[in-house]
Amino acid sequence: MKPDEVAWTFVLFSVLYLAATGVEYDLDPLGEGTLNFTQIADKLGLKYEVHEVSTHDGYLLTLFHLPGDSARPVFLLSGNFGSADDYIVRENTSLVAVLQGAGLDVWAGNWRGCKYGRRHRTLDPDRDRQFWDYSIHEYAKYDAAAQIDYILNKTGAKRVACIGYSMGTTTFYLLGAMRPEYNDKVAVVISLAPIGYVHHSVIFQLLLPMWPFANALMEWMDVNEIAGSKNILTTFMRYVCRSKEIGYEMCINRWFFPWFGYDADNLEPQFSPVVFGHFPSPISSKSLRHMVQIMINHRIAQYDYGPEENFRRYGSVIAPDYELGRNNMSVVLISGKNDPIATLADADMLKAQLPNVVDHLLLEPKEFNHIDFVYGKKTHKVLYKTHILDYLNKYLPKS
Ligand SMILES: *[C@@H]1O[C@H](CO)[C@@H](O)[C@H](O)[C@H]1NC(C)=O
Ligand SMILES: *[C@@H]1O[C@H](CO)[C@@H](O)[C@H](O)[C@H]1NC(C)=O
Ligand SMILES: *[C@@H]1O[C@H](CO)[C@@H](O)[C@H](O)[C@H]1NC(C)=O
Ligand SMILES: *[C@@H]1O[C@H](CO)[C@@H](O)[C@H](O)[C@H]1NC(C)=O
Repeated sequence: MKPDEVAWTFVLFSVLYLAATGVEYDLDPLGEGTLNFTQIADKLGLKYEVHEVSTHDGYLLTLFHLPGDSARPVFLLSGNFGSADDYIVRENTSLVAVLQGAGLDVWAGNWRGCKYGRRHRTLDPDRDRQFWDYSIHEYAKYDAAAQIDYILNKTGAKRVACIGYSMGTTTFYLLGAMRPEYNDKVAVVISLAPIGYVHHSVIFQLLLPMWPFANALMEWMDVNEIAGSKNILTTFMRYVCRSKEIGYEMCINRWFFPWFGYDADNLEPQFSPVVFGHFPSPISSKSLRHMVQIMINHRIAQYDYGPEENFRRYGSVIAPDYELGRNNMSVVLISGKNDPIATLADADMLKAQLPNVVDHLLLEPKEFNHIDFVYGKKTHKVLYKTHILDYLNKYLPKS
C-alpha cells in the first residue's frame, strides 16, 4: 500500500471502530478530571498567585507562581500539546507540590497558543490567522525569554533553574542558541525526556508516511490551530477517551502505550479521565510543520519556508541550523529507558551538540516511559523527590 492508502485505512478503521463501540460513551465533558491549575491548587490548599506575562510580540501568557524561597526560583515548561496543568494534575504528588514542599519558588509557565496562552494584545485567536503564525522558534525566542525575565525581575534572583519536558527541553536549547545572553540567566536546564533530534524514534518513522496526507488535509481545511477545545475531533476524542468503559482500553492501552511506551503500573485506569481532561492543549499547525521538518531533514534548523522565502528571510535558500554550540548553560539530561519518543540514541546525538551537558541520567525502573515524566503515579518517588531535588540543591544551592 502507498502511504496515503495507509492513512486512509487508518482513518476509516478508527471511525468504524469508534462508531461500533459508541454506545457506551460517557458524554459528560465537565466531570471529574477536568479541573484546571487554580482549581487543583485550591483543592490541595496550595498557596499560589496567577501572573500574566506579555511577550515582545504581544502574546499574553499565564504564569503560575507557587511562592517559596525567592532566591531559588524554578521555571517549568511542559511538553507539546501540554500546559502548566501537566505539572499539577498528580495533585499532592505532582512536581509543583513537591518543589513547593521543598521550599523552592515555583513558576509554572506556558507558551503561546496553549490553553493559558490563547490571548494577545491585538490579535483574536478565533478570528485572526496571524495569531497562529508561529512555530517552536517563537516559543524559545519570545515566550521562554519573557517568562525568565519576568521571574528574575519579580524574585530579584540572578539565575533561575529551568525544568523542561519533551518539547519544553527543545525550547531552552533554542533559546540559548538564539539569545546567548540567556545562558547567564539560567542556573541549570533539567531536561525530562530531552528532544532535539528524532532520528531513532520508530513510532515517528511509522507516522511520517502519513504526514503528506495530514498536511494536505490541514491545508485544504485551512487549519491554523490544532486540537482547539472547540474542535469537533478534539471534543469527540475527549468524550471517548474519558469514558469509563472503553477510555483506558482504547486511548491508553491501544494508543498511548504503543506510542509512548508500556508502563501500566504507573498509569492506572482511574487516572485516564484526568489525562484526557487536559490532553491535548492546542498548538499551531505551523509548530507541527516545523517539528516535522526537523524530523524529516534530520537537522535542528529554523522553519523552512521554501527556497525563495528562505532566501528573503535568512539570506540563504536553506533554512539555517540553530547554533546549539552557543548553549553554555549547564544541562542535565534525564531519559527513560522505555521512551520511544525521546530515545537514548537521539539523546546521545543531542549530547554531542550541546557543549555543557553536566549529567545524563538513565532513569530506573526500566519501564519508565515518555509520559511517566508528568503523568506517572510513582514519579514523585523515583524522580521528583530524589533526582530533581538533588540537582536543584546542587545547581541552585540554599544560601
Ligand atoms: C479555572 O476555572 C475556573 C472555573 O471555570 C475559573 O474561574 C478560573 O479562572 C480558571 N483558572 C484559570 C487560571 O484559568
Ligand atoms: C495525598 O493525598 C491523599 C489523599 O488526600 C493521601 O491519602 C496521600 O497520603 C497523600 N500523599 C502524599 C504523598 O502526601
Ligand atoms: C523589575 O522591573 C521594574 C520595572 O521595569 C524595575 O523598576 C525593577 O527595578 C525591576 N526589578 C528587578 C529586581 O530587576
Ligand atoms: C556563556 O556565554 C555568555 C554569553 O555569551 C558569556 O557571557 C558567559 O561568560 C559564558 N559562560 C561560560 C561559563 O562560558
